[in-house]
Amino acid sequence: MIKPFTSWKLIGCVVGVTALTSCEKPELEGPDALQVTVSSNDEDDDDELDVDWGRVFASFTAAGGATTVNNFSSLSMIQPAPNLGGADLTAHLNGKVLFQRTFELGEVAPLWNNVRCESCHLGGSRAGLPKVNATTGELTPQLLFRVSLPGTGPHGEPRPVPGFGDQIQPLMVVEGIDAQDEVRGASAEGNVLVRYTEQRSLPFKDGSTVSLRRPTYTFAKTTQDLPAGTMISPRTGSQVTGLGLLEAVPEETILGFARNNTNNGVSGRPNRVWDEEQGRTRLGRFGWKANQPSLRQQNAGAANGDMGLTSPVFPIEPGESVASAQLNLSEQQLRDLTIFTQTMGVPAFRNNSSAQAQLGAVMFAKAECGSCHVPRMKTGTLPGRPEVSNQVIAPFTDLLLHDMGPGLADNRPDFLASGREWRTAPLWGLGLQQTVNGHTSLLHDGRARNVVEAIMWHGGEGENSRKIVTEMSKEERDALVAFLNSI
Ligand code: HEC
Ligand code: HEC
Repeated sequence: MIKPFTSWKLIGCVVGVTALTSCEKPELEGPDALQVTVSSNDEDDDDELDVDWGRVFASFTAAGGATTVNNFSSLSMIQPAPNLGGADLTAHLNGKVLFQRTFELGEVAPLWNNVRCESCHLGGSRAGLPKVNATTGELTPQLLFRVSLPGTGPHGEPRPVPGFGDQIQPLMVVEGIDAQDEVRGASAEGNVLVRYTEQRSLPFKDGSTVSLRRPTYTFAKTTQDLPAGTMISPRTGSQVTGLGLLEAVPEETILGFARNNTNNGVSGRPNRVWDEEQGRTRLGRFGWKANQPSLRQQNAGAANGDMGLTSPVFPIEPGESVASAQLNLSEQQLRDLTIFTQTMGVPAFRNNSSAQAQLGAVMFAKAECGSCHVPRMKTGTLPGRPEVSNQVIAPFTDLLLHDMGPGLADNRPDFLASGREWRTAPLWGLGLQQTVNGHTSLLHDGRARNVVEAIMWHGGEGENSRKIVTEMSKEERDALVAFLNSI
């Protein structure tokens, strides 16, 4: 049996699920660098707590390896990696122009959700602040809705809904985001309304609770009725920064994190998704359910599904059946956009000398958060992208799917991901969210208003961690939050 990875040790050397072979010595910065060697078949969980995780955190700030940036402003998530230069930097900057460009209505027509990538990924990060509709009083976060019918298509993909495809291109009330909103409604497939019901969380040890808001989504003004049995999955725009590094993590490393039930109830399994250009099934890495295999396909898919833009990967407009004569994005443009998303630098960790944040790192280990939010690993070689290759990084994800229980379930499978499974969300950049996004909403549909709420939504395989947090004192909980705000 392999023990859960709750540590900061280097895990790029993990091979398979049973053997831990050819481990390199972790290269940790600082005088307090921890000399941990990964040993196989180590079942003694207490080992992890003998390690002073506070000191390990104190000695490690380069979250993105050589791509780490020391910018902590509202633009911290949209910086080129400092090791990027020459033609690659030019391509990155060209891609950034496309990411920030407001596309013309003629280009995005006939169906789209938004006219700018950055409208759903503010400053390279996640979607903007959920807003309250002044007329109806309803909350309308910037979400998109994937839809499908039970069963799968020829490549294991969700079955599209006739008349809608696999995504609602809605008349969404996202005031203040784009000037085109009113025009946008004219061609839309429908409107989605969100209502939240407040419920108390289970109590912490000191008897206090937090209020959790449970969303209910209803469709309004749809152009036609959604067929009975239609499944919907709400998803908010997630952080783009750092994804090139995650694309460079070797497949064996990710598969090495997969396991069947451990003693803390955590398993984790890979998604397998269709690669359009390669015409084969591959490991999924991107999206809330790891439903995209590569950044190129993710970006081309976003351009097509979210913005009505055709490209060499997806030459057919949503709602149409034949390829457009002229593509909205050329091969060169899609390439630049992909290089941009691959080479944004990751902000350095902060507050490493804070005793509170260091205690929080210990609490993170104690609550076994790292069983899924794997702190450290080493990237392999991403062809053509030396900047993100061979870097020791701290993304806090295993890129695997986990059953998070009925509370978070969307009940809509996506390739191999069940209706209760989600990809472990990377946690790097968490502490800059307020600065970059102007809010602290979290989880796939933005329902959690802060990290404590996000933790309290953890069920299923995350139940054990949530329970450990409820047993913490207020001081320990605050320390955990301080740590999360430092990464
Ligand atoms: C309408 C809002 C919206 C727009 C516009 C949009 N995105 Fe996204 N983006 C999302 C959502 C929602 C997700 C998560 C998708 C999922 O889970 O299926 C996402 C995911 C991503 C991811 C993967 C993130 C991860 O953590 O794995 C990348 C990369 C990305 N988008 C790039 C882009 C690019 C490039 C554009 C412009 C061509 C764009 N997006 C336009 C909403 C949007
Ligand atoms: C069983 C695996 C697992 C464990 C253990 C776990 N998480 Fe998570 N975590 C996830 C998954 C999966 C998501 C995404 C869920 C969603 O969006 O619905 C997530 C989401 C989050 C988020 C929100 C991230 C975002 O971008 O929206 C935070 C914060 C978080 N976890 C913190 C923690 C902390 C702190 C612990 C330990 C107390 C912990 N998690 C333990 C799997 C896990």
